[in-house]
Amino acid sequence: MNEAGLPAVLLLGAGRMGAAMFAGWAAQDLPPCVLVDPALPPGVARPQDSLIPDLAALPAAFEPGAVILAIKPQMAADLLPRLGRLLPPGAAVLSILAGVPIARLAALLGASNAIVRAMPNTPAAIGQGMTVAVAGPGVSPAQRALCTRLLAASGELAWLDDEAPIELVTAVSGCGPAYVFLLAELLEQEGVAQGLPPDLARQLARKTVSGSGALLAASQDESAQLRRNVTSPNGVTEQALAVLMDEAAWPASIRRAIVAAAARSRELAT
Ligand SMILES: NC(=O)c1ccc[n+]([C@@H]2O[C@H](COP(=O)([O-])OP(=O)(O)OC[C@H]3O[C@@H](n4cnc5c(N)ncnc54)[C@H](OP(=O)(O)O)[C@@H]3O)[C@@H](O)[C@H]2O)c1
Repeated sequence: MNEAGLPAVLLLGAGRMGAAMFAGWAAQDLPPCVLVDPALPPGVARPQDSLIPDLAALPAAFEPGAVILAIKPQMAADLLPRLGRLLPPGAAVLSILAGVPIARLAALLGASNAIVRAMPNTPAAIGQGMTVAVAGPGVSPAQRALCTRLLAASGELAWLDDEAPIELVTAVSGCGPAYVFLLAELLEQEGVAQGLPPDLARQLARKTVSGSGALLAASQDESAQLRRNVTSPNGVTEQALAVLMDEAAWPASIRRAIVAAAARSRELAT
């Protein structure tokens, strides 16, 4: 327990997402944590945390209130049955594994623990994440409150009542940062291709994407209004937007990208 009375947690997998989520808990002084990862990043843990390379090294007396699954989905079939044998009955299982439904997690664990499935994204690393969560059968109000504390430490959190839309959530916000970073990449590449010095093209692309994101976050306006604010009639931006907003250009590409990502997420689930 920490001073706020929250129970300790077990983090299985401290890679990109696991470590990002842990950074949020550490910043908010959330419960002590045992991190399980074979290649533990140095300097991540607080004095009250423990680092172990494998579940086999889990202290027998350790009774976590929640176990966070942040391993790759491909590892689930190997690790979850082992974890299931070690789980205290009251521990909530909080999974961020893309494409692995609650029923499959329960079957692999072979335990009756309550399960919450969540989909975060990488801006969680700086407390700017967007996470969507859905509670499986039997999640108690206290377990849901604990998961809320853990997930909201990395940014904004929305709860769903139904698991079905989570594949679409994955396609929009789970994968979404990659689409935005691609935009920065393409702006930089095209700036260089058309004659800008590489350092300047990089600076322009990065600051345009990050500054626009910050403006969107700070503004009450719809994103469409912020776009219109940059677009004078018959001006320069309007020319570019006529290309990008053509139905066959970005609208069709984004539609195909979201459909493809959601389909892959559903495929992983089977
Ligand atoms: N990255 C994203 O944008 C994102 C967004 C939403 C959800 N997710 C989900 O988050 C999960 C983790 O993704 P990630 O990008 O963070 O992957 P990752 O960086 O590869 O993290 C997985 C971690 O698990 C470790 N691991 C391997 N074997 C283990 C074992 N036996 N016990 C404990 N830990 C072990 C890995 O160590 P090694 O590297 O040494 O193998 C690695 O540090 C995935 O299920 C993914 O679907 C990711």
